[in-house]
Amino acid sequence: MKLPKIKTPLPGPKAAKLINIDNRRVSPSYTRDYPLVAEKAKGLWIDDPDGNIFLDFTAGIAVCATGHCHPKVVSAIKKQADKLIHMSGTDFYYTSQIALADKLASLVPGDGNNKVYFGNSGAESVEAAFKLARWFTKRELNIAFFGAFHGRTMGALSLTASKVIQKRHYNPLIPGITHIPYAYCYRCPYNMSYPACGIECVRWVEDNLFRTTMPAEEVAAIFVEPIQGEGGYVVPPSEFHVELQKVAKKYGILYVVDEVQAGMGRTGKMFAMEHFGVEPDIMALAKGIASGMPLGAMVAKSDIMVWEAGSHASTFGGNPISCSAALATIELLEDELMENAEIRGKYMMDQLRNLQNSIECIGDVRGKGLMIGVELVKDRETKERAGTWRNEVVLKAFEKGLLLLGCGENTIRFSPALTVSKEEIDVCLSIFEEVLLEVTS
Ligand SMILES: Cc1ncc(COP(=O)(O)O)c(C=O)c1O
Repeated sequence: MKLPKIKTPLPGPKAAKLINIDNRRVSPSYTRDYPLVAEKAKGLWIDDPDGNIFLDFTAGIAVCATGHCHPKVVSAIKKQADKLIHMSGTDFYYTSQIALADKLASLVPGDGNNKVYFGNSGAESVEAAFKLARWFTKRELNIAFFGAFHGRTMGALSLTASKVIQKRHYNPLIPGITHIPYAYCYRCPYNMSYPACGIECVRWVEDNLFRTTMPAEEVAAIFVEPIQGEGGYVVPPSEFHVELQKVAKKYGILYVVDEVQAGMGRTGKMFAMEHFGVEPDIMALAKGIASGMPLGAMVAKSDIMVWEAGSHASTFGGNPISCSAALATIELLEDELMENAEIRGKYMMDQLRNLQNSIECIGDVRGKGLMIGVELVKDRETKERAGTWRNEVVLKAFEKGLLLLGCGENTIRFSPALTVSKEEIDVCLSIFEEVLLEVTS
């Protein structure tokens, strides 16, 4: 069984030298939880410049869906690079962008009558969705959720309500956005319990918000993650999206679904919203879409994406190499990896629930497929958040060669490549358990 190998103190001498230069030359706005310097990687395994080997359960923040440097993706990238690197879909046509648009349009839940706009990132996909929703509805107001992360460009940031540091000194942001509580049942914002609550968090929108401060007929869109990502891998109850979309439809409000983190096979279905039986009006995609090549896509129903030529575009958006990587990625997802995500995700979740029976600080285990969150608490009764323990777990796991990331205030996220094997999950969980016991003893 392959195991992580740590041969130097971390960071090792070569990594330390690089980090030193980075400290002097790279934007200090980046957040690095631990000093990993990635030199090369294959599948879930990353080598640093000092010969240390790490097991990666982050997939580069849920991006490398097919694992690092999957041979089929690398081959597609190389082939495309030999043929055409750039032409700009804004002004010209080219094969790989057209092929990918055709594929994505047919994949999105619904009748397949969709159109695709291409950007380079998640924020750009959300930004495009924001603009299209305004353009189409000619309405000025929008709804988004506390805990949501939609990106950091000014429009996407205005919809984001994740951490205050992401907003500090950037006001004024785009006006007219109201944030409301998400269906976070483990910590119900209304102090109710599911299912007795009758999905109060949706009822509240119509009964309170639309009656008091927000005229429903002025709302362009509801922006929502199918499962909150950065907010803590929060899975809403099964009826949440259907009920919320019913309210949206009643008032002509668009349902804009941000699948940037949850989409592209990660949850065991191509799009996480398929678990909830909802057809979005507009969908934002990025991260896992091209296995690490920069690409964002905004897919909308054809009768909604009716903006005129010149109203929105991007020079690099839908770059030929990124589109070819995406086509190779989607083929792998359809052939085997979505199924693997479902099977391995279930195994991992079962194992984590077993661990929860014996380890007191595991307050909640939740997720779908390989989008799994473990919320740490100081006390199961009071649910006091164990944010410091969470940070220590992430750091100590790194020191033992396991790469993890946090999300929310006190949740560990497991977002490995969808190629993950049972053996790799076993290695991850044995390190995780060891570290949890060390930190909380
Ligand atoms: C749900 C969601 N939307 C949007 C974004 C922004 O994506 P990017 O960092 O590619 O701009 C993220 C990034 O984490 C995300 O998780």
